[in-house]
Amino acid sequence: MIAGVNIDSLASHQITLEDPARAAARPRDFEGQLRHSLSPRRPASMNDDCTSMNFLSRATVAIRPYRPSDRPTVFRLLSVLPSLYPGGTSWLDHRLDDVLGGKARCTVAVTDGAPVGITIETPKEPHKLKLSTIYVCPSFRGLGIGTRLLRQCGENWLKGDIEQVSVTADVRRTGTVLPLFMSFGFRPIAIERGRYGPDRDEMVFTWLLDNQ
Ligand SMILES: CC(C)(COP(=O)(O)OP(=O)(O)OC[C@H]1O[C@@H](n2cnc3c(N)ncnc32)[C@H](O)[C@@H]1OP(=O)(O)O)[C@@H](O)C(=O)NCCC(=O)NCCS
Repeated sequence: MIAGVNIDSLASHQITLEDPARAAARPRDFEGQLRHSLSPRRPASMNDDCTSMNFLSRATVAIRPYRPSDRPTVFRLLSVLPSLYPGGTSWLDHRLDDVLGGKARCTVAVTDGAPVGITIETPKEPHKLKLSTIYVCPSFRGLGIGTRLLRQCGENWLKGDIEQVSVTADVRRTGTVLPLFMSFGFRPIAIERGRYGPDRDEMVFTWLLDNQ
């Protein structure tokens, strides 16, 4: 059991984004965001990190393992990486090769054949793993995709021999990741000052099997 998440209740990997129960549970501004996201041909905002996704035209998302054909879209989805992490593009290149070589795991949330969310997990020492990347296209946030991606990861940790998972996030962006991480039992344990540059502090989170 991952804190707050009943992984036994996982049924299908298909969801409908327009889930009335979920929408009803949202605060009012959240409902507005959801309606806005679900309009059939909504142009992506100039501020979106994945403008190339263009339009949300179908309201279903599937969670599945990464495939080689996802590569171009994954690069567009994660176009924010170089601004956050020096060498982010070549890092992603190598990491996706690792995924194909079985040395890392990548899970994508896909709609209309295109990934709109992603996790990349990298084994470290025995029983330890790093959640290297979790990212959902801004246009698709607040719809439960991040939760489903992380739940899929958590299932694999519990099925495997993983006892400790670490993840780091830019301290300036912890507002978006904190609720999700905390609900899965991650705890902030440190801030690494200047990890990726003078103004680039990283918050370190850890998930421990013993604490679940
Ligand atoms: C963190 C992230 C993955 C969450 O994805 P998501 O699909 O929006 O997540 P969910 O819809 O499952 O929401 C998870 C929780 O986040 C919080 N949340 C999500 N959207 C929110 C919003 N608009 N306002 C307030 N809280 C929100 C809620 O607590 C929610 O849990 P709840 O639905 O049980 O209340 C996404 O915000 C993201 O990609 N952020 C950037 C991450 C990043 O910078 N990664 C580094 C580069 S790789």
